[in-house]
Amino acid sequence: MFPNPHKTLESYVDTITYGDCTEHLPNLPRESIHLCLSDIPYGINLADWDVLHNNTNSALLGQSPAQRGKSGFKRRGKPINGWNAADRKIPQEYQAWCHQWTEMLFPAMVEGASVFIFGARRTLHRAIVAFEDSGFLLRDILAWEKSNAHHRAQSLENLVRKRGLNAEAEKWAGWKVGNLAPIWEPVAWFFKPYRHTILDNVLENEVGAINIAECLVEGRSPTNVLRFDSEAGERLHETQKPLDLIKYLIRLTTREGQIVLDPFMGSGTTALAARDLGRHFVGFEANEQFCQIALERLKTTGLSTNNRQAQRRQRVSKKTIIDETPLLFPET
Ligand SMILES: C[S@@+](CC[C@H](N)C(=O)[O-])C[C@H]1O[C@@H](n2cnc3c(N)ncnc32)[C@H](O)[C@@H]1O
Repeated sequence: MFPNPHKTLESYVDTITYGDCTEHLPNLPRESIHLCLSDIPYGINLADWDVLHNNTNSALLGQSPAQRGKSGFKRRGKPINGWNAADRKIPQEYQAWCHQWTEMLFPAMVEGASVFIFGARRTLHRAIVAFEDSGFLLRDILAWEKSNAHHRAQSLENLVRKRGLNAEAEKWAGWKVGNLAPIWEPVAWFFKPYRHTILDNVLENEVGAINIAECLVEGRSPTNVLRFDSEAGERLHETQKPLDLIKYLIRLTTREGQIVLDPFMGSGTTALAARDLGRHFVGFEANEQFCQIALERLKTTGLSTNNRQAQRRQRVSKKTIIDETPLLFPET
């Protein structure tokens, strides 16, 4: 992909651009982004947008007879004839997919800036290698701990009984087929290496430190376990993240007026969080319907009075190339 000289940073700031992020990331100016925060596709075949490999194993995406009529997990890959060689290549192909855009992301990040990536426990390690291969360094892996988790393990006894093997079934009483309840999700935290010391970098680039005072948990210093409940109410995206969790990570690592990038915006949670905190945002979303949902969400979800005042006060950070530009989003 080659940069498009007609695309300026201004044309991307404070809106969500419909399209494949790999067509737009090369257009972002060097060292213009202060934080990348994204819930990236997981490479576990969660939905059509999550299929990032060439495997055409017929058990994928609800094609197995065992998946028909099922609401939950109907699209997940389920081997019916064992794992074939193509199944085993899925993680490598996911890593290659990550690598193509981590290469594009690296130049756009300010030195010392953070990158938070939500991922799947099964595949995140591949994304981490892609990030490292592109020049980022891994700082930590945070755990987002939820208050509850769906647990879908099936009773082995019942499954065996359905085959008419009653004597055999008793032997498996109490056993299940599945995983332990997935109560936490990993968040990989990277940074772009900086020259000199972290202090020099903070003074020069205004990123690299963490704002503990803004992120105390019950008055105490935060840990790397983030406890945030999933939001109640209608979900706009199957992997929608809690707004408060996203706001927390933005407050931790950025100052007002800085630019937050989410190349995989989904229903727009990162944009909403950034806007509400007086930060600017750049976002991409390849699915037209999600992009519309996200833009609509930005239009219809108002700012709290405090944040509106904060927005009036602040301008884009002095370290961005749109230095003197007033806020690009209208006050609501
Ligand atoms: C895990 S979801 C993000 C959901 C988000 N956290 C939210 O709160 O709504 C990832 C999103 O990335 C989008 N996507 C996948 N590939 C993309 C690409 N190449 N460029 C831009 N968006 C892409 C998918 O359509 C999907 O909506």
